[in-house]
Amino acid sequence: MKKLENKVAIVTGATSGMGLETAKKYLSEGAKVVLTGRSQEKLDALESELSGDFLLIKAEASSIEDSRQLIAKTVEHFGKIDVLFLNAGIFRLETIDALTEEIFDEVHNINVRGPIFTVQAAYEYLNEGASIIFNTSIVNVKGFGGMTAYASSKAALRSVVRTLASEFGPKGIRVNAIAPGPIDTPIYGKHNVPQENIDQMASHFPAMVSLGRFGSSDEIAATALFLASSDSSYITGAEIPVDGGMAQV
Ligand SMILES: NC(=O)c1ccc[n+]([C@@H]2O[C@H](COP(=O)([O-])OP(=O)(O)OC[C@H]3O[C@@H](n4cnc5c(N)ncnc54)[C@H](OP(=O)(O)O)[C@@H]3O)[C@@H](O)[C@H]2O)c1
Repeated sequence: MKKLENKVAIVTGATSGMGLETAKKYLSEGAKVVLTGRSQEKLDALESELSGDFLLIKAEASSIEDSRQLIAKTVEHFGKIDVLFLNAGIFRLETIDALTEEIFDEVHNINVRGPIFTVQAAYEYLNEGASIIFNTSIVNVKGFGGMTAYASSKAALRSVVRTLASEFGPKGIRVNAIAPGPIDTPIYGKHNVPQENIDQMASHFPAMVSLGRFGSSDEIAATALFLASSDSSYITGAEIPVDGGMAQV
């Protein structure tokens, strides 16, 4: 028996990295999957890459109207929702002297505001036993320089998980987070992070990780499957670190 047979899952930010790998994993476990992204070109490219019952929807993660449309289209196409993986996010690296209001707002609008209002839009369409999963980061418990905007957004999400777990508990709906450590995805080459900073992180991170390497999107997808399925039926309000030990030892 597949672990997500007949379940409907939404994965935001599924055109790349962990979101894409998780969407593939969910499809292989029998779920009907809605994949979102902000680039129509990247979504179109997935048509031939994926197999199974899926729907590709362009949705800007920071737009509340797009989130409402995403939920409406999902419900129209597949009916109610069982898994909501709020994965879309951006990374920025500016020390406090270089941080602007625009950068701060962009990070928090995409990483925090968007996921919160997507949950609100989905509220009445979540099945009993549904699983909501946020993608946070272990930086929410570390003090890495240059991450004021990013780390604070992920710390906010950690708090949101606790609050929503309390609100959704009586409905039998679980709310959890995955906190990745350094995972080898395209994110580091995006969002105006200077190449020299990327090179620096690439050379320093492995030494800071007990397992001595970057993680893979597949290792996140495996955890996202665990949290989506009934294997984690008594886990809520939790954040599971998938970090090779980086923030644990
Ligand atoms: N990689 C790491 O080391 C790491 C560590 C801890 C936490 N995380 C978190 O893990 C999540 C996934 O990151 P990843 O590493 O897999 O990065 P990724 O490969 O860049 O994937 C991010 C996905 O989110 C989408 N996205 C970004 N901004 C969006 C927006 N405004 N509207 C809609 N979609 C948007 C991206 O689309 P585009 O490709 O079009 O931008 C992409 O599909 C993020 O929340 C990130 O903060 C990553």
